[in-house]
Amino acid sequence: MEISSDELDKELIEDLKEENPDKLSKLVEEGSGKDLKFLLKNMGRLPDEFDGEPFIKLLDSEEEDLRYHAVKNVGRLKDDKYLGEMKERFEKEDSTEVRSEIISTIGRMRSEKAKPFLVDLLEHKNPEIVLQAVRALYAFKKEPEIREKLESMINHENEVVRKVIRKDFFPDDESIERHTEYPEFMENKMVQSDVRKVLDDVPDNSIHLTFTSPPYYNARDYSIYKSYEEYLDFLEEVFEEVHRVTKKGRYMIVNTSPVLMPRVGRNYSSNRYPIPFDLHERLTDNGWEFIDEIIWLKPEASAVHRNAGFVQHRKPLAYKPNARTEYLMVYRKDTTKLLDWNINQYSDQDIEESKVEGEYESSNVWEIAPSNDKEHSAVFPEELCEKVIKFYSMKNDLVFDPFAGTGTLGKSALKNSRKFFMTEIEEDYIQRAKEKLNPAPLDSGSQPNFQNLEEFKTDAKANQE
Ligand SMILES: C[S@@+](CC[C@H](N)C(=O)[O-])C[C@H]1O[C@@H](n2cnc3c(N)ncnc32)[C@H](O)[C@@H]1O
Repeated sequence: MEISSDELDKELIEDLKEENPDKLSKLVEEGSGKDLKFLLKNMGRLPDEFDGEPFIKLLDSEEEDLRYHAVKNVGRLKDDKYLGEMKERFEKEDSTEVRSEIISTIGRMRSEKAKPFLVDLLEHKNPEIVLQAVRALYAFKKEPEIREKLESMINHENEVVRKVIRKDFFPDDESIERHTEYPEFMENKMVQSDVRKVLDDVPDNSIHLTFTSPPYYNARDYSIYKSYEEYLDFLEEVFEEVHRVTKKGRYMIVNTSPVLMPRVGRNYSSNRYPIPFDLHERLTDNGWEFIDEIIWLKPEASAVHRNAGFVQHRKPLAYKPNARTEYLMVYRKDTTKLLDWNINQYSDQDIEESKVEGEYESSNVWEIAPSNDKEHSAVFPEELCEKVIKFYSMKNDLVFDPFAGTGTLGKSALKNSRKFFMTEIEEDYIQRAKEKLNPAPLDSGSQPNFQNLEEFKTDAKANQE
C-alpha cells in the first residue's frame, strides 16, 4: 500500500495504527520533510507492540523539532528497552526542551532501572531539568527513600523547585479555615490606635483583602521617623502582621510612590526614596507573593512641577520629570492552593453577585484623578477604592485598611456590599471618618462602630471565650 503525501491525514494514521502498525512505523522510517513532521506530531497513543526503532534513528537528526517529537513518541511506548538510548541522547543533547522531554519519557517508563539516573538529575544545575526529574520520580514517591529525597528538596536553592515540592508534599490543610467567614466582632469597625497594638488582638486568617496607603516617609507632617531604615522596619512589622491575619491566598495591595525630601539648603541636593522598591523585598521575604504592579496615573495638572528649571535651561543631567504616577503593588498571601480554590469556597450565588459587570480596567495603568479632603492631605479617591474592592474581593468579604486616615476604604466597602475593618492613629481623621461613614447604606449589615484600643481589646477577649 503506497501512501502519497496528499493522503496523509489524522484519520489515516488512526486506521494504520489499528490495522497495520508496521506500515506506520515504516512510514516514519522512510518519511522526510513536512510529511515526517506531520506524522510525528499526530501519532497519538501508540499500540504496545509498536516498533520504536524509527524514532530512535531520528534522535541524531540535525533538526531540534524532529528530535523533540521523536523523543515524545518514544515516551508514548512506555518501554524501558529504550532507556539506554534516551540516557545517551540526554548526555549529547544541547536543547533544554529536548532534554526535558527525554526525562519525561524516562519517567513514563516507570522503571526501577531508570531510578538511579533520575535521582542523580535532582542535583542538576538547570532547575528545569531538576523539576522534570522530580516529576518523573513521582511514580516512586511511595518508596520511603525517594519520598524522603523529594521532601528534602523543600530547601532547594531554586524558588520554583521549592514551590512545587511545597505544593505536592506539604499542601495547606483543606480545612485551614472557613474561608468566607471572619470574626464578627471586627465587622464595620474602626479603631483609633497605633495599628500594631490592634493587630496583637486580631485572630489569624481573619481578613479577605487589605488595601492601604501607608504614611509617607517624612513627606508629610504626620509621619516622623528617625531614619528611612526605621521607617521601612515599621512598615515591615505591620505588613508581617497583616500577613498573619490575612486568609491564605488572599490579597494585599499597597499604594506607595517614591518620595522626595526637599534639600536642606542651597548647597545640598534633595533625596529621593524609592519606597515601593525598598519595601518589596521585605514583603516577599515575609511570605507575600508578588502578583502585579498597577500604575495609578494622575492628570498632568495634579503633578508637582519639577521641570520649571529645565524648561528654561534645557541642560542634560538636570532633567527632572513631573511625577504623575503612584504604584499599587499587588501581593497574595502564599498558599499551595490555586485561585480557583479560593473562589470555590463561595456559594454560586455569591460568585454570581460578585461578578465585575460592564467596563473594567483591562491594563495595569489606571487613570484616576486624585481626591481632596478638607482634613487630610492624602486621601484615596473613592474610584480607586471601588476598583480595588471589586477586582480583589467578593461580596460580604472583610476588607482592611491599617492606615485608614479618613476611612475612604470603609465607605467604599459599604457601598459595594463588603464589610470593613480599619485602624487610624489620629483623632482628627477618625472624626472625619465618622462624617464620611454616617449614615451608612441601609444594607451595610451592622452600623459603623468606632472604638478606642481598650474597647477593642475587650471585644477581642470576649470573642475568644
Ligand atoms: C496616606 S494616609 C491614608 C489616607 C487614607 N487612605 C484615606 O483615604 O484617608 C496614612 C495614614 O496613616 C496614619 N498612621 C500613621 N501611622 C500610623 C500607625 N502607627 N497606626 C495607625 N495609623 C497610622 C496616618 O495618621 C495617616 O492618616
